[in-house]
Order: sequence, then C-alpha cells, then structure tokens
Amino acid sequence: MQTLRDLGQLRSALVALRAGGHTVALVPTMGALHAGHLALIEAAKDRADRVVATIFVNPLQFGAGEDLDRYPRQEKADARALEQAGCDLLWMPTADQMYPDGFATTVSVDGLSKRWEGTARPGHFDGVATVVTKLLTAVRPDIALFGEKDFQQLAVIRRLAADLNLGAEIVGAPTVRDADGLALSSRNAYLSDDDRARAVCLPRALERAAEEIADGAPVDHALDHARHALTDAGFSVVDYVALVDEATLEPVTEPAGQMRLIAAATIGGTRLIDNLAVRVS
Ligand code: PAJ
Repeated sequence: MQTLRDLGQLRSALVALRAGGHTVALVPTMGALHAGHLALIEAAKDRADRVVATIFVNPLQFGAGEDLDRYPRQEKADARALEQAGCDLLWMPTADQMYPDGFATTVSVDGLSKRWEGTARPGHFDGVATVVTKLLTAVRPDIALFGEKDFQQLAVIRRLAADLNLGAEIVGAPTVRDADGLALSSRNAYLSDDDRARAVCLPRALERAAEEIADGAPVDHALDHARHALTDAGFSVVDYVALVDEATLEPVTEPAGQMRLIAAATIGGTRLIDNLAVRVS
C-alpha cells in the first residue's frame, strides 16, 4: 500500500492505479479505524479493482467546544490495518493542504442538513459536505463508500454528489456493531467501562421502539418509551429520538414505506448516534 500526503503525488499515483482501465473505490475516514471502517474497505474491494482510503480529521466539521483536539489519532496502526485489509492507496492530506490560507468556499446542502444532527451541531454538515466534495474531486473515484451508521451524513453526501455531478456512485454500507449491539464508533474510546456498559441501551431502545411500531403502537408512544429508557439508563441529554422517512429524513407519524429510527444521546459526556431500519407490513 502506498501512503501519501501530497496532492500532486496523489494525482500521479492515481494515474498509475487506474492504468489498464482499473476502477477505483474511495473510502473516506477520520482514522482511529475499527471494524466498521474495515468493512467499508471490504465492500469497496468487492465493487472496484482498486481501493483508496483517506484519513483526515476535518477541522471544518467540528464545532466550537467539540472534540477536535482530543479526537483519537493513530496513523501508524491505521495504516497497518488498511494495508492488511487490502487497501491500495492511503491519502492523508494535511490541514494546510486541504484548507490553505485564503480558503473561502463552503459546500452546503440545504434541507437535509438542517434537521437532527444539523440542529444539534450547527455547521457540521457544511464541514462534511465541503471536505467530501474536495476528496471526491481530488480522487475522482468510480464509487465512494459511506456507513449507514451516519445515516443523515449518507443522505447529505448522496444529495451533494448528485447535485454537483461528482460522478461517483455513492454506496451505503450496513452498521457494524459490537457483540452486545452497540454501533462501533471511534468515539466509543471515550467511554468509561461503566458508561460503555450502559451505552448498549441506545441500540436496545431503538430495537424496542422498532418492535412497538411494527406491532402497531402509536409512534409517539414508542418514541417516548425510547427517550425514557435512555434517561433511565443514565444518558444525560437525549437530543432526539425520531422516526423518519429514509429518503427525506422528515418525521413520520403514520408508519409506511422505508423508515428509520434515528437517535442521538449523550452518556458520560460522550455523544452517541445510532439508527435502525423500520418496516411495517
Ligand atoms: P468517520 O467517523 O471516520 O467514518 C468514516 C466512515 O465510516 C463513514 O462513512 C462512517 O459512516 C463509517 N462508519 C463509522 N462507524 C461505522 C460502523 N460502525 N459501521 C459501518 N460504518 C461505519 O464519517 C466520517 O468519518 C467523516 O464525516 C467523513 C465522511 C470522513 C468526512 O470527514
């Protein structure tokens, strides 16, 4: 696996990677890699001839007072894991390269960015949309893979790739979970043992709400149960628990079609997000 920081070197490496007509898949990450990230590399290998991963802790998508400074960084271990997983090229741009002096452009996806995470983390999706546009433009992959773990992010990226004709097919991959059901996240490293044990109440609350809704319970009752379950388990803040349409992310009150339960809540100072598909017959 080749590891590069420089954009000029990336361009020539990509020419070599594509030689002979090879297709390229891109897996963007912020590092601190876990099995969820590596599942994206696996899915990328299934769908393209060559796999490019990026590691860049993107300052634009962190709000004031968020965890940019303490976000876990472990480049060597990440590079080893990517190499073992069969990644062909790792691009780790520097912040100066991504955002040189005078950088003044923001990509903003209206509508989809406004609710849920957008309300809780103002500016977050502008930061994501801007960096993903830059990564897709630099690498020009045939496909790019993103996790359903960040369901709203996936929707925002699908929209921007279509709106800006970025040319890459955006592929979503299922959430990888720990044995007890907690979604893997680089931020789980912040949890104390006690909070980690209680954090599993987040997926459990979503599973129970999904069952209640599938059994015909009123949506607001099911969502209230989930919120109370989280508070009872020791979550200090519940930003939202909602049932939304998978495509529009608008709230659903009468279950129909393809829906997602989405939630964000804080335990022991660590904010976790999760989501679950809901179908009614
Ligand atoms: P990061 O949190 O590092 O996640 C990189 C990719 O891995 C994202 O597409 C995310 O949805 C996916 N992912 C994270 N946890 C997962 C899990 N448990 N199962 C499956 N996929 C998972 O998301 C970002 O970085 C950034 O916002 C980024 C898109 C790289 C832009 O900076």
